Amino acid sequence: MRLTNRTRRLYFAGILLAFWGLIAVPRAVFGGQKVQEPSSSASASQSKKLSESTDEGSLPAEIQACQSCHGDITASFEKTPHWKTMNDTRGGHAMQGCEACHGPGGDHADDPSKSSLFDFKKATSEDITERCLTCHASGSEHMSASNSFHRQNDVSCTSCHSMHHATTKEHMLIKAEPGLCYSCHLQQKAQFNMPFRHRVNEGLITCTDCHNQHGTSSVLEGDHLVRQVRASAPGDVVCFKCHTDKQGPFVFEHEAVRIEGCAACHIAHGGANPRMLKYSNVNLLCLQCHTNSPGIHATVMDANQSHYEQACVNCHVKIHGSNFDGLLDR
Ligand code: HEC
Ligand code: HEC
Ligand code: HEC
Ligand code: HEC
Ligand code: HEC
Ligand code: HEC
Ligand code: HEC
Ligand code: HEC
Ligand code: HEC
Ligand code: HEC
Repeated sequence: MRLTNRTRRLYFAGILLAFWGLIAVPRAVFGGQKVQEPSSSASASQSKKLSESTDEGSLPAEIQACQSCHGDITASFEKTPHWKTMNDTRGGHAMQGCEACHGPGGDHADDPSKSSLFDFKKATSEDITERCLTCHASGSEHMSASNSFHRQNDVSCTSCHSMHHATTKEHMLIKAEPGLCYSCHLQQKAQFNMPFRHRVNEGLITCTDCHNQHGTSSVLEGDHLVRQVRASAPGDVVCFKCHTDKQGPFVFEHEAVRIEGCAACHIAHGGANPRMLKYSNVNLLCLQCHTNSPGIHATVMDANQSHYEQACVNCHVKIHGSNFDGLLDR
């Protein structure tokens, strides 16, 4: 779903660009300064990169001013996704290149000791976040930014992302997952070292498959899955994204699954018990809710009702729901 949205966005941007290319070809001048040479086709203008420039003069003006003193950063900038801001002229210079984040740099370029620039080192985390959200607030991934636990706890965008010194190929991260998350969430690191766990450390699934680190809506409050847990595509609990067989609909639901959610019985990260169950003894898990059941089982089980010789799930095998029997036994 995220992919489709993104593809759509890119496609839309492509159309805009093509359109811009058509009407803007004859104008080699933008805002009084020479910008990158507009080419006749959208794809050509989009793939125009610093490395292809033959002389400094063809550098976009927004970047040229900074290049002489900040060579490394300027050279690496074209390889970051933010190079795309060079192609989007709708917001003018202020929304392009270095100045999109650092603010007007004219004064500073003339005299570096002066700094009217936005200072990421001294800025509060909220100021940083707001700055990034001027462009990133829309889209399904970020639309719940105001509900972000990270944001509310002064974890800013640049606690996880680095604009010039990223170590990952994708998403400009300071560090790859799960190491990035473990750097602050030590308790979770321990959980993913338990014997029965989701294989996050092995890269089979990621923290962000289940969580939206950027914030979630609180629709799933009733399912006890509020910890910045994502919803699956149809808006259900995230677990159904992969465990589709547990979703049903079943003719005979187990109300515990439907109402309480998976977390009623499982520890989502991992634990000491097989199947990541909350209790080592399955029966204890069931008896948490089914305190009245012993009587009924007098006929099928040990006469001593306090002692069960068989696990409940030996008979009630379809514990997540059944299409055949309300007793969940087949
Ligand atoms: C004449 C050389 C020169 C030019 C041109 C120049 N800078 Fe700088 N810039 C410096 C120097 C020197 C420093 C270090 C100042 C310091 O550490 O106090 C610096 C520091 C910075 C910082 C870090 C500020 C901080 O406190 O962390 C940023 C951001 C920056 N420049 C952005 C830009 C941008 C954007 C441009 C283009 C609009 C630009 N610079 C043009 C010389 C220059
Ligand atoms: C998307 C926002 C963004 C853009 C665009 C951007 N920067 Fe930065 N810049 C940052 C952030 C955030 C930092 C703080 C360090 C970090 O996150 O890597 C920073 C840090 C810096 C520094 C401080 C030294 C350092 O290495 O951290 C300089 C200098 C700088 N930027 C120059 C530039 C120049 C020149 C450009 C254009 C070629 C540019 N920046 C484009 C966000 C941006
Ligand atoms: C707690 C760490 C963390 C924080 C804080 C964070 N991010 Fe991210 N971000 C990630 C990780 C990890 C990914 C890649 C995994 C994924 O696909 O979700 C990512 C992906 C992204 C992406 C690409 C995915 C997409 O479709 O949008 C953008 C853009 C982004 N972040 C911007 C931001 C902005 C803007 C902020 C601040 C408002 C921010 N991030 C705060 C960790 C973080
Ligand atoms: C002027 C608008 C603008 C600002 C300000 C801005 N970004 Fe971006 N950002 C973009 C664009 C455009 C892209 C490329 C989107 C794409 O590839 O679909 C992008 C891409 C990204 C990506 C990579 C997404 C991916 O899929 O790999 C991350 C991460 C990101 N931005 C984080 C930030 C952070 C953190 C800040 C604040 C320091 C910030 N951005 C400020 C416009 C902006
Ligand atoms: C810079 C430190 C830092 C990093 C890195 C970080 N977090 Fe967090 N995270 C926090 C803080 C602080 C909180 C809020 C306090 C708390 O609940 O621990 C939080 C809260 C959360 C919550 C909500 C907890 C709740 O009780 O509701 C989740 C889920 C979460 N983080 C997941 C992640 C994931 C996934 C990553 C990696 C992509 C990550 N975090 C990276 C600092 C961080
Ligand atoms: C299989 C899905 C899944 C994965 C993978 C996952 N989480 Fe969680 N996480 C959850 C669920 C569900 C909860 C809520 C549990 C509850 O409230 O009972 C949760 C809760 C949390 C919390 C809140 C405190 C707590 O433990 O209840 C934090 C912090 C957190 N996760 C961080 C992480 C980090 C960091 C990673 C990766 C190293 C990660 N999670 C991977 C599903 C997942
Ligand atoms: C991104 C996909 C994905 C998501 C989302 C996911 N899981 Fe899983 N889950 C897996 C995979 C893959 C395995 C198998 C793990 C292995 O073989 O190491 C697994 C294993 C399990 C197991 C153990 C099965 C066994 O045979 O021991 C349980 C229980 C489980 N998941 C519950 C959950 C719950 C509860 C959620 C939601 C909080 C969830 N899963 C979300 C992919 C996922
Ligand atoms: C009422 C308690 C309960 C609830 C709620 C529950 N489970 Fe289970 N689950 C179990 C038990 C007990 C087992 C072990 C069954 C066995 O060993 O035969 C199990 C096993 C599993 C397994 C591994 C075996 C298999 O059938 O694939 C997965 C995966 C799983 N559950 C996922 C989920 C998901 C996803 C949810 C939420 C939709 C969920 N469970 C809700 C009790 C529960
Ligand atoms: C979180 C509470 C909870 C847990 C834990 C739980 N159940 Fe249930 N279960 C319910 C509820 C609520 C119903 C539906 C109401 C009822 O009939 O009691 C139900 C219904 C059933 C039914 C169908 C009963 C009927 O009358 O149709 C069976 C069988 C059952 N559960 C077995 C189990 C077993 C076996 C376990 C342990 C693996 C278990 N349950 C764990 C809450 C729970
Ligand atoms: C040997 C097979 C077997 C085992 C083991 C077993 N059950 Fe049953 N269970 C049954 C049968 C058969 C019925 C239907 C009895 C009847 O209708 O008189 C039943 C009925 C139920 C019912 C529905 C009646 C009611 O109380 O509302 C629940 C709930 C239930 N069992 C829960 C459990 C729990 C919890 C355990 C484990 C502590 C368990 N069962 C172990 C066979 C078993």
